[in-house]
Amino acid sequence: MPRHHILITGASSGIGAALAEYYARPGVHLTLWGRSKERLEKTAFVARTKGASVDTLSIDLTKADEALKALASADDALSIDILILSAGMADIRPHNALAESAETALKMSMVNFATPVAMATEMANRMAARRHGRIALMGSVASFHDLPLATVYSGSKAGIGRFSTALQAAMTPYNVRVCLIAPGFVDTPMSQRLDGDQAFLVPVDKAARKIARCINQGKGVLVFPWVFQLTRLLEMVLPRPIAHRILRRLDVMQHPENEKTTKA
Ligand SMILES: NC(=O)c1ccc[n+]([C@@H]2O[C@H](COP(=O)([O-])OP(=O)(O)OC[C@H]3O[C@@H](n4cnc5c(N)ncnc54)[C@H](OP(=O)(O)O)[C@@H]3O)[C@@H](O)[C@H]2O)c1
Repeated sequence: MPRHHILITGASSGIGAALAEYYARPGVHLTLWGRSKERLEKTAFVARTKGASVDTLSIDLTKADEALKALASADDALSIDILILSAGMADIRPHNALAESAETALKMSMVNFATPVAMATEMANRMAARRHGRIALMGSVASFHDLPLATVYSGSKAGIGRFSTALQAAMTPYNVRVCLIAPGFVDTPMSQRLDGDQAFLVPVDKAARKIARCINQGKGVLVFPWVFQLTRLLEMVLPRPIAHRILRRLDVMQHPENEKTTKA
C-alpha cells in the first residue's frame, strides 16, 4: 500500500505530539523527532496503536548539519509528503535581568529559526522537483509584538513568519504549499511553565485539529484564537512608544525547563 509520509519535529511533546496522534492511521508513516527518547516513544506508541508505522529520532536541533543529513535520509527512504516543523523553545529574560543571555539567544535562534529554515529550504527544493508537498512552520502571535520580556522568542518567531510567507510565494507555482501557524496560548508544557493567566488558552487537541485543517487545505497562514488578529491590528495602529510603554508593564514569570511534565 502506498504510504503517506509525515515528518514532525517536536513530536515528543505538546503540539507536535498532538499532531502525530491526529495524523496516525493505517497507510501513514510518521517520522517523529524530538530530544527526549522516552517522550518520543510515548508518542510513537500511541501512533502505532492507531495503525501508523513510525520511526523516531532523538536529535538536538541546535545541530543544523545533523538535522539536514537526517532529513535527507528520511526523504530518500520514503518521499516526505508533509513536513511539520513544530519544535521550538521559549524563554523569558531571567528575573532582574534586562535581556536574555547571549547563550540562550544563540540556542533559541538555532532551534526556532535557523534549523527549521534550513530544513524547510531543503525540503521545498525536493518537493518542488516532485510538484507535490506541504510544509508547516510554527510561528507565534508573540511575533506580532515587541515583547521586552522575550526579545529573542518574539524576534525568532517574527523571522520564521516572514520566511514562511516568502517561501510560500516562491513555492505555490510548484504545487508546494507552505503554511505559517501562529498560535496564541496552547495548553502544553511550554505554556504550563508560565505563571499567571493565559488568555484564551486553547486545548492542545483542538489546536492540532485546527493546524491539520490548515495544512490539509493548503492555506498560507493560520492565526488562532482570532482575538489575536485584533491585538496585532492594535499594535500596528498604536504609536510605537505607547505600545512599548504598555508592553514593558508585562510581568510574567517562568519555571525552569527541567520542571517540564510529560503531559502532551
Ligand atoms: N504552547 C504555546 O502556547 C505556543 C504558542 C505559540 C507558539 N508555540 C510554538 O509551538 C511549537 C510547539 O510548542 P509546544 O507548545 O508544543 O511546546 P513543548 O510542549 O515544550 O514542545 C516543544 C518541542 O520542541 C522540542 N525541542 C525543544 N528544543 C529542542 C531542541 N534543541 N532540539 C530538538 N527538539 C527540541 C521538544 O523536545 P523535547 O521535549 O524532547 O525536549 C518538544 O518536542 C513551538 O515552536 C512553540 O514556540 C507554542
